Amino acid sequence: MPASSLETIVSLCKRRGFVFPSSSVYGGLGSTWDYGPLGVELKNNVKRAWWRSVVHERDDMEGLDAAILMNRLVWKYSGHEATFSDPMTDCRACKARPRADHVFVAQKGRDPKGLVEINAAIAAKELTCPKCGSKDLTEARPFNLMFKTSVGPVDTGDESGLVYLRPETAQGMFVNFGNVLDTMRRKLPFGIAQVGKAFRNEITPGNFTFRTREFEQMEIEYFVRPGEDEAAHEMWIAERKKWYLDLGMRAENLRVREQEKHELAHYAKRCVDLEYLFPMGWSELEGIANRTDFDLKAHSRSATNADAVGELHYFDQEQKKHYVPYVIEPSAGADRGTLAFLCDAYEDSLVKEPPAEDTAKLRDLVENFARSVGRREGMDVDVKQRLQAAAEAIAAGLPGTLPRLIGLMDDVEAGKIEIMKKVRGVGEKIAEEHTRTVMHLHPRLAPLTVAVFPLKRNEPRLVELARSIKRDLQRAGMRAVYDDTGAIGKLYRRQDEIGTPWCVTVDFQSLDDQTVTVRDRDTMQQERAPLAEIGPTLAARLR
Ligand code: GAP
Repeated sequence: MPASSLETIVSLCKRRGFVFPSSSVYGGLGSTWDYGPLGVELKNNVKRAWWRSVVHERDDMEGLDAAILMNRLVWKYSGHEATFSDPMTDCRACKARPRADHVFVAQKGRDPKGLVEINAAIAAKELTCPKCGSKDLTEARPFNLMFKTSVGPVDTGDESGLVYLRPETAQGMFVNFGNVLDTMRRKLPFGIAQVGKAFRNEITPGNFTFRTREFEQMEIEYFVRPGEDEAAHEMWIAERKKWYLDLGMRAENLRVREQEKHELAHYAKRCVDLEYLFPMGWSELEGIANRTDFDLKAHSRSATNADAVGELHYFDQEQKKHYVPYVIEPSAGADRGTLAFLCDAYEDSLVKEPPAEDTAKLRDLVENFARSVGRREGMDVDVKQRLQAAAEAIAAGLPGTLPRLIGLMDDVEAGKIEIMKKVRGVGEKIAEEHTRTVMHLHPRLAPLTVAVFPLKRNEPRLVELARSIKRDLQRAGMRAVYDDTGAIGKLYRRQDEIGTPWCVTVDFQSLDDQTVTVRDRDTMQQERAPLAEIGPTLAARLR
């Protein structure tokens, strides 16, 4: 079963070096995260797999790495200066500033049809402040999401040096359309792909790395003849869905959702979202939009753009005419994708029953915890009900519910209840011995490909052979590590938890016949294999 709570993933990520809260030595900076040693490998693998699939394995794509800082005019003519905003309302009673569209959705159970409908609802006192319940809300106003900075050593205060941190990588590809077309002698259809940072001053970041203010995008701008755009759109929807599935994402957790007219960005004729069933519900993973000829036209010299130096169009040799191509844009988040792969790969299960007296002790503690939550004052009602219901269900189902207890022990809100310390004191030890946590990451995504262990760490011949196998695997291009810091069972469990697909153990037989044990993470099968075959076999499985 994939992770049932985001807390479980956050906790594992912190504990095992995938993702850390940013600037933690100074108390952190809300909703910003640093990728640790394993996280950076995982995210790099996600980006590499994407690049391989959309650039290297195709004949109609080129790559690009455009600058983050661009001429401010790019954002004027793209429409972002005027329209890239969220509607905010202020509560006159408690001074909270919630997103008006979120308030509308939460309280009316459907999306609003634009700012006008939101403001009509505010005026009619149909919406209330989510913090204090007051109906005294101001008219919703747009709040631009672009971060500003200035270039040059002096801030003149007149905005002459104003630049934005790009809120999408897409514009770098549009303004380079002519450069790529000319230098690579491309004919339509062809596309440009780019991976890079984007920045948005999100009003409500959250859900771990799902929505942050600094994130990475993996975007494609695919240029086609007008009239061929709809077929190209369908092609990319199918391609992009297949990419997630080929990398092991469960089909039942991935769906295609057509955006409704009022959801469409100002440039889009149609947009289809690929959504993933995250622990907090179905949410966007990637948007695949038909941006028509909006952007190339917007950046071309015309009656409405006197600043552009030329026209971004295409000469069609067959049709003997100039026109502005249409664009299909599959736009994915590298961080969101990484998070989805983590959630999807996560599994924990009970591997053996703990002694009855341990279970009884734990049950008592969890029941006490549930009662303590019930008595707690000042706790958000939703949180209270969620924790109480979870604890009661876990207590009733122990020891089978031990894996779910791990999620509860990781829950930040649960940690605020004093008795959780006692639950953890007993629960963590029992969970460690009786449950198994595995990340079933696709071998191409896993941070480590293979871990090599000597059966005994105080046996120099085993250590030497294990180290030399590890070096050979590294030379063959694999991310291989050596470990001898525990008993073999414990080492397997550690590697399972971080998703390492294979472990190789060197024992005394290895010294005689040059064979080793290869253990598969998913099946837990152990096979004896000749040393010489390990590298080629694992490399073939990675392809
Ligand atoms: N160029 C089109 C574009 O930027 P978008 O739907 O705003 O479209 C595309 O963003 C993808 O970028 C999203 O599907 C998501 O995966 C990722 N993304 C957008 N905002 C994000 C944020 N604040 N934090 C993390 N990822 C984000």
